[in-house]
Amino acid sequence: TPRVFSGIQPSGGLTLGNYLGAMKRFVDMQEDVAETIYCMVDMHAITVWQDPDKLARATRELCAGYIASGLDPDKSILFNQSQVAEHAQLAWIFNCVARMGWMQRMTQFKDKAGKNAQNASLGLFAYPALMAADILVYHTTHVPVGEDQKQHLELTRDIAMKFNHDYGVDFFPLTEPVIEGAATRVMSLRDGSKKMSKSDPSDMSRINLTDDAETIAKKIRKAKTDPEPLPSEAEGLEDRPEARNLVNIYAALSDQSVEAVMREVGGKAFSEFKPMLADLAVAKMAPISGEMAKLMQDQAEIDRILADGADRARAIAAPILKKTYEIVGMVGA
Ligand code: TYM
Repeated sequence: TPRVFSGIQPSGGLTLGNYLGAMKRFVDMQEDVAETIYCMVDMHAITVWQDPDKLARATRELCAGYIASGLDPDKSILFNQSQVAEHAQLAWIFNCVARMGWMQRMTQFKDKAGKNAQNASLGLFAYPALMAADILVYHTTHVPVGEDQKQHLELTRDIAMKFNHDYGVDFFPLTEPVIEGAATRVMSLRDGSKKMSKSDPSDMSRINLTDDAETIAKKIRKAKTDPEPLPSEAEGLEDRPEARNLVNIYAALSDQSVEAVMREVGGKAFSEFKPMLADLAVAKMAPISGEMAKLMQDQAEIDRILADGADRARAIAAPILKKTYEIVGMVGA
């Protein structure tokens, strides 16, 4: 039976990229799949130093963001990673399965470690093994993510395969990445060649989940474009990264294919298309930020949801970890 797992780092500042590439798709899967498990990966967040008060706030804010986006804590399991120790326990075993060379090839490590990789934390290097543990400790079958996580999911399959091979078992499944829809890679509003990211120094490059209606509209009005009107067909977007990005955002927000959007807006000037996109983005996003702010006023309720989610997650993970320990030959499991 299908089981969906995915996670987001509570490192502060959720963007339209996180929403369209991940959260909105988590909600869609919640309706289609019986078991959906969504995590706030706080242990991944601290692979680069986080201020403790901010980490706690970002974890609760992410939980509020999940719920405001449409996740229902009764249908989906919502919890933070550190509270289900099985993630860390399985990660250690995977640290012993994965090879240094595999980790060295990870582009996210190279990007985040920068020029001075010797100074990166050991946790940042081992990050993908913990991610594989997040996924495999539930015997997850499907993982919805944005395009930038593809390499990590391939590594997860490599770890599952090597574990199964080294111990002569058929125990961990080969998980399918689910990278689908028009917005698997939302780009910066200022530069169509850069991913929309919370770490971009320019706030105008992104829409934050906490932006109000006026800010959202302004950022879209000022988004970078080229001088030509939109092409009449989707193919005409190929060499026009900024135009393509805005059309992709429009398609994802309105639950349409890019082709259907092009039938509606093809040939229009940006002076006409941008206000349409701004109205749509405000209609879809502003209620989420409003709801998040409301949920954040009841911290006790958020903490209750996280504790309940952790109990339900642990109930699935514990027997899988126990079996793993037995396979490895760890006495006492
Ligand atoms: P993170 O926290 O960087 O991002 C969370 C999710 O948002 C997606 N995303 C985007 N999608 C489209 N366009 C963008 N501009 C954009 N920016 C971010 C990401 O692809 C991701 O799906 N390593 C993961 C967290 C993680 C995880 C896991 C995910 C830890 N364990 C297990 C899945 C399964 C990460 O850093 O995501």
